[in-house]
Formats: sequence, C-alpha cells, structure tokens
Amino acid sequence: MAGWSGTDRRVVVTGASSGIGAAAAIEAARAGATVALVARRADRLGEVLAQCRTHSPASQMVVADLDDLEGIDAVAARLADALGGVDVLINNAGVPKRRSVVDLTPADVEGVMRINYFSPVRLTLALLPGMLERGDGDIVNVSSMGVHLAAYRVSAYSATKAALEMFTEGLRLELGGTGVRARLFIPGSTDSEFSTPKPGNDEPFPRDPRTVSSAEEVGAALIASLADDRYITYATERDAASSAARNADPEAWLENLRRVFSGG
Ligand SMILES: NC(=O)c1ccc[n+]([C@@H]2O[C@H](COP(=O)([O-])OP(=O)(O)OC[C@H]3O[C@@H](n4cnc5c(N)ncnc54)[C@H](OP(=O)(O)O)[C@@H]3O)[C@@H](O)[C@H]2O)c1
Repeated sequence: MAGWSGTDRRVVVTGASSGIGAAAAIEAARAGATVALVARRADRLGEVLAQCRTHSPASQMVVADLDDLEGIDAVAARLADALGGVDVLINNAGVPKRRSVVDLTPADVEGVMRINYFSPVRLTLALLPGMLERGDGDIVNVSSMGVHLAAYRVSAYSATKAALEMFTEGLRLELGGTGVRARLFIPGSTDSEFSTPKPGNDEPFPRDPRTVSSAEEVGAALIASLADDRYITYATERDAASSAARNADPEAWLENLRRVFSGG
C-alpha cells in the first residue's frame, strides 16, 4: 500500500508532547504535512516542534490545557489561524485512570471523562464547520484496547474510550458523502509515559514486554491509517486479532479473563 502523503495537508495533533502523539506528529511532518501540536508542557512540545520543523518548517505549536472545556473554542480558533485551516484532526491527548470500581470517586470518573471524551468532542465540534465548508477533512479519534480487551481496574478509563468510539461512529455515519471522514485508531500496550506512575492512579500493571509496541511504531501506524478510508485501524495485527476473538465469543472471553485475574 502506498504511504500517506501529507502534501498540502494541515494536521492538528493533540497530546503531541510525548508518546504516540509526538511520534505521529513527527511522522506526519515527515510525510509532508504542516503540523500544529497541542499539549500543556511547552518545553516538551518545543522539542517535538523542532523535530517536525526539520521536515516541515511551517509547523506550529499551541500550548493549551484541554481539560479546560470552556477554553476549547479559543484553542480551535488559534489552531485554525496558525495553520490557515485544519484538514486533519487527530484527537490523541488522553490520561489513564487505573483504579478499581470499589475505590473510584465521582471526581475520578468525571475528570477522566472530561479530558478523554468531552474535550475531543468539543474540539471536533469546533473544527468541523470549517471542514464541512471545504468539503474535505479527516478526524482520527484515538481509542484503546481497553474497550476491546478488558476493563479490569480501568472501567472509568475504558468507558471514556467507549463513549469516544460511539461518538466517532455517529460522525462516520452522518458525515458520509460530505468529504469529511471520521475514523478510529486503536492502540494496544504502547511504551510511553501513559503507563508510568501517576497521581490519582493505582500503580501501572505489569506488562509482558513482548506485547508492548514502541510509540514510534504506533505513531507511524496512526499516520499510515490516513492512506485509506478504513473506519477502524488497530495499531497491530495482534490487537485486531484480540478484538475479533472477544467479539466472536464475549462470554468465553470474560470467563477466561476472570480466570486470569483471579490467578488461574
Ligand atoms: N500507552 C498505551 O499503552 C496506550 C494504549 C491504548 C491507548 N492509548 C491512548 O493513546 C493516547 C496517547 O497516549 P500515550 O501512550 O502517547 O501517552 P502519553 O505519552 O502520556 O501522552 C499523553 C499526551 O496527552 C497530553 N495531555 C494529557 N492531558 C492533557 C491536557 N489536560 N491538556 C492537553 N494535553 C494533555 C499530554 O501532554 P501534556 O502532559 O504535556 O499536556 C501528552 O502529550 C491516549 O489517548 C491514550 O488513551 C495509550
């Protein structure tokens, strides 16, 4: 398959200061796109921007806290101004919530929902009119194998991504024929800061290193997914196979998980 060409594409990547977002932004710039990077940490964003500019000198950064929902329209306006319009929106910024249902507080649930669901929805709604006006655009929402594999001790987090998946399905169905394409990109375990100790979270789960992808591999797969019009792209074949196995027999899948999580 031919790779994606970013020539004449203006791409916004949220959560571009580290991990998958940083890798995807650099990959998009390498493919010829002009990129606008969004996150809170200006220093880290600046480092990623410098790498993007070696490929795509007009790339930009916008420092913003996407947790501030009332500020998102202004962020969208700054992004559209910085790029002269947005052709591709990659809603990648996200935070974990590792906490058992018996310990979760309403504030935990609402906080993770704000950044992982309400924020990308608001940004999408703010940038969609410009895409519809031009009759062209791509919206990539980054979900998680947390929806497709197991919600064990991550129920609040997985629920944010399940909500994002259904919102994306609505976009996909309703925008058919407008020239605006909505899609999902689904990473599995990826080596990034996401899986490091974080306040308000239980300790990261032990992971089998054989099943962990690098952020560079996953970021490259994300940008490659723009080359065709497939609705769902899994970061790896392994993730696609796991999702298919769960869908084929959900009860057997859950029974197996119960055995695994109870040490069986
Ligand atoms: N790593 C995995 O195993 C994995 C698996 C499945 C799905 N995912 C998903 O992949 C996406 C990227 O995760 P990652 O692994 O690359 O993690 P990461 O390295 O921790 O990156 C998360 C990014 O989100 C940004 N972000 C977080 N809160 C923000 C806020 N309030 N405002 C603006 N930006 C914010 C962070 O930037 P600042 O801190 O600078 O703001 C950072 O750039 C997430 O949506 C995650 O749910 C990850």
